[in-house]
Amino acid sequence: MTTSTEWQLARDAAEQYQKVLVPSILGPAASTLVEWAEIERSVAVIDVGCGTGAATRLAAEKVGATGRVVGIDVNSGMIQVARSLPIPEGATVEWRECSAYELPSEDQSVDVVLCAQTLQFLADRPAALVEIHRVLKLGGRLCVGLWSELQESPYFHALVESVGKHIGEKTAAGLRSAFGLSDAEQIRTLLEEAGYSGIKMAVKPIELDLPLPSVFVPIHIRATPMAAGFEAASPEARKSVVRDVAKKLALYENGEGIRVPFTTHLAVATK
Ligand SMILES: C[S@@+](CC[C@H](N)C(=O)[O-])C[C@H]1O[C@@H](n2cnc3c(N)ncnc32)[C@H](O)[C@@H]1O
Repeated sequence: MTTSTEWQLARDAAEQYQKVLVPSILGPAASTLVEWAEIERSVAVIDVGCGTGAATRLAAEKVGATGRVVGIDVNSGMIQVARSLPIPEGATVEWRECSAYELPSEDQSVDVVLCAQTLQFLADRPAALVEIHRVLKLGGRLCVGLWSELQESPYFHALVESVGKHIGEKTAAGLRSAFGLSDAEQIRTLLEEAGYSGIKMAVKPIELDLPLPSVFVPIHIRATPMAAGFEAASPEARKSVVRDVAKKLALYENGEGIRVPFTTHLAVATK
């Protein structure tokens, strides 16, 4: 669990993730997923690969004091940051450092599983989907969020291309891995083959409000597992990345930042 394509972070980077990426990107995406999931009051929810808990806390608001929410992540830095943040008043949230392949729940005990921008990073996606199926009650739902194709996200497309050109393919591949499960048919097939039915899918647009690339690109990359590759590059190479991204996104400038389109796949699958 140490490669950048499996999205592993140290504690300080997990803090940056919460400070930088959750407000700008992961938070809006988590909110879109949780609204789509239509989580009822009083139900039991697990957020698999919860990170710092963006979707977990939103789910806790939905289930209220009579529900139960568990956030699990294999990364201790993410779980430590999640634990340090306030949870909605009256809600019960449990944070567990564990793997998506071994969930801390009895068979058929969970009503809703959330998986927000995590399935693409799992080395054995079918095994994780079967494990999630095990813990779901009959009629329970798995709700998945996954970025749409890289080309549909002008910010990430520009960033991956510029990093590939000026810093190197290895660092670019780490950023691209977030888009490693972006084909709707592939997502549907994975869910069907793991035993789910009643699969409903949608592609939802999200407008991202980001600081100007000159400000955002360095802090964004430093909040990802690709920080080391970026830091190891020459100052000229880093400046060239920022300059290229800013040039490509000039048409999205909006006052003090940029407003860029972004899309996410949402899938709901029933046990
Ligand atoms: C891009 S982050 C998304 C986090 C969170 N769901 C969000 O929306 O902010 C991907 C997460 O998947 C987690 N992850 C990767 N492999 C995992 C595994 N095998 N089991 C559990 N979590 C895993 C990483 O530690 C990371 O927190």
